[in-house]
Amino acid sequence: MTELLNSIILVTGANGGLGREFVRQALDRGAQKVYATARKPQDWDDPRIIPLALDVTDPASVAAAAEAANDTTVVVNNAGSGNRSRLLSITLSDLRSLYETNVFGPLTVAQTFAPVLAKNGGGSLVDIHSALSWVSTPSAYPSTKAAFWSLTNGLRIELAGQVTHVLGAHLGFADTRLTAGLDVPKEDPRDIVAAIYDGLEAGEHEVLADDATRKIKGKLSEPLEALYPQFAATPVEEQ
Ligand SMILES: NC(=O)c1ccc[n+]([C@@H]2O[C@H](COP(=O)([O-])OP(=O)(O)OC[C@H]3O[C@@H](n4cnc5c(N)ncnc54)[C@H](OP(=O)(O)O)[C@@H]3O)[C@@H](O)[C@H]2O)c1
Repeated sequence: MTELLNSIILVTGANGGLGREFVRQALDRGAQKVYATARKPQDWDDPRIIPLALDVTDPASVAAAAEAANDTTVVVNNAGSGNRSRLLSITLSDLRSLYETNVFGPLTVAQTFAPVLAKNGGGSLVDIHSALSWVSTPSAYPSTKAAFWSLTNGLRIELAGQVTHVLGAHLGFADTRLTAGLDVPKEDPRDIVAAIYDGLEAGEHEVLADDATRKIKGKLSEPLEALYPQFAATPVEEQ
């Protein structure tokens, strides 16, 4: 169980749609201080919010942030990037860059902040995944979220030794810059972040933050066609 009251939280990608909510709602729940990190940190209107430079793809920048924020008790690994290119046409250079941001970046953050969390009593690591960790679309992005999900599960086992609580949070579509231009129903980022913080404070290891995500996870034990109906055999009467 992680009480946010009096905690000191560091959020990556804090200028983004979910990131801003992670910053604001941490304060609403009584956090003492929030490090709002970003590649280009913005000014905030609250003295409890400390803007800090952190590019998840730059290990030196992550190390400098860990030194500056060495009182952190909760790390929210939220920064991420999208790419709708198809797997058959994305360049390996673009794919590697996506993995740098969505997979190696958050792993670098976890590795670098693990000693900080240990020093401060264990604390928590919150990793932001997706319903696309479990179901793919014709694009490169889902595989990065699947890889990150698997890393989180490994990290949970490794970090148990230092009593760091690891929460993996999954969501469908939320209304942020990442989903701009997608014509689909989208959740309010405020509701998604509230569900994730509720789960964190309840001591959960995994949060499924919306109905779409719960439905997808529920289908994982069914035949593959439940997730990919386009591959279901055509019923005989329709042939
Ligand atoms: N929105 C959704 O529907 C949805 C669904 C499932 C999962 N997610 C996940 O939720 C997380 C937050 O996304 P969002 O929806 O809030 O999108 P967003 O508004 O685009 O925010 C993403 C943030 O990540 C930051 N970022 C990108 N590369 C970075 C880097 N190298 N170092 C540090 N920060 C970096 C961006 O910073 P800049 O401002 O500098 O570009 C941006 O502020 C992501 O991990 C995303 O994959 C979102």
